[in-house]
Amino acid sequence: MFYAFSLLIPAMLAWLLTGLTFTHRAVSGWQRHPSTDRAGTSWHVCWTCYRRLMAVRSLFPTHFYEGDIGEESLIAELDRSVRALASDDTAGKRWSKAHGYRGYTSYASLDDLPQRDPAFADLKRHLDRHVARFAEACGFQLGGRRLKLDSLWVNLLRPGGTHSGHIHPHSVVSGTVYVTVPAGSGALRLEDPRLGLMMAAPPREDIFVHAEPAPGTVFLWESWLRHEVMPNTAKSDRISASFNYRW
Ligand SMILES: [Fe+2]
Repeated sequence: MFYAFSLLIPAMLAWLLTGLTFTHRAVSGWQRHPSTDRAGTSWHVCWTCYRRLMAVRSLFPTHFYEGDIGEESLIAELDRSVRALASDDTAGKRWSKAHGYRGYTSYASLDDLPQRDPAFADLKRHLDRHVARFAEACGFQLGGRRLKLDSLWVNLLRPGGTHSGHIHPHSVVSGTVYVTVPAGSGALRLEDPRLGLMMAAPPREDIFVHAEPAPGTVFLWESWLRHEVMPNTAKSDRISASFNYRW
């Protein structure tokens, strides 16, 4: 027993001194032990003394919501409604043609779709719930109020159609629900909001992110996030409804 203790005490002293030495070296940048946890935070730890020496945190994340309407009959009904509008809404067709929109949009011609058509009233009820969840995830402090639908319009994008990069001013949350999405009919491309501030920064991955929708998909983002619709390379039309929520 005596011999065991006589070996243990010097070993503990050696471990302590070695730990202090490595800690000093690590702080000085001589020892590097990087690792990444599940949250994506990079840690530098001196394994000898298990002290955290530095970390890289991700600040100000950009939120993007992906949901699903989950009601196929409503999506089918919306498809019929949008095709009827694209046929009957003369003012919308005229505006689309005048502004080079390849297809039809009710963006500038109709502002009462939920009152005009029960399918859009149902859609609004779904969207209210999705937007409320997104607002909570974003950590908005709404003072007991809820975000309210401000505008809702439909888009029938013909083959070859696209929509260049833009934001949605005067709104809090914007989004799109997808009704008819033939393969190759145009993903949503989202742009890193820091891009205009990066100046001399070297290139990096994920400056642009492509979100691929399916029928029933709901995408939501904060309205200041720049996005664009990639060209519709399918042979048939893509149908969607876009919207803004305000506070
Ligand atoms: Fe948009």
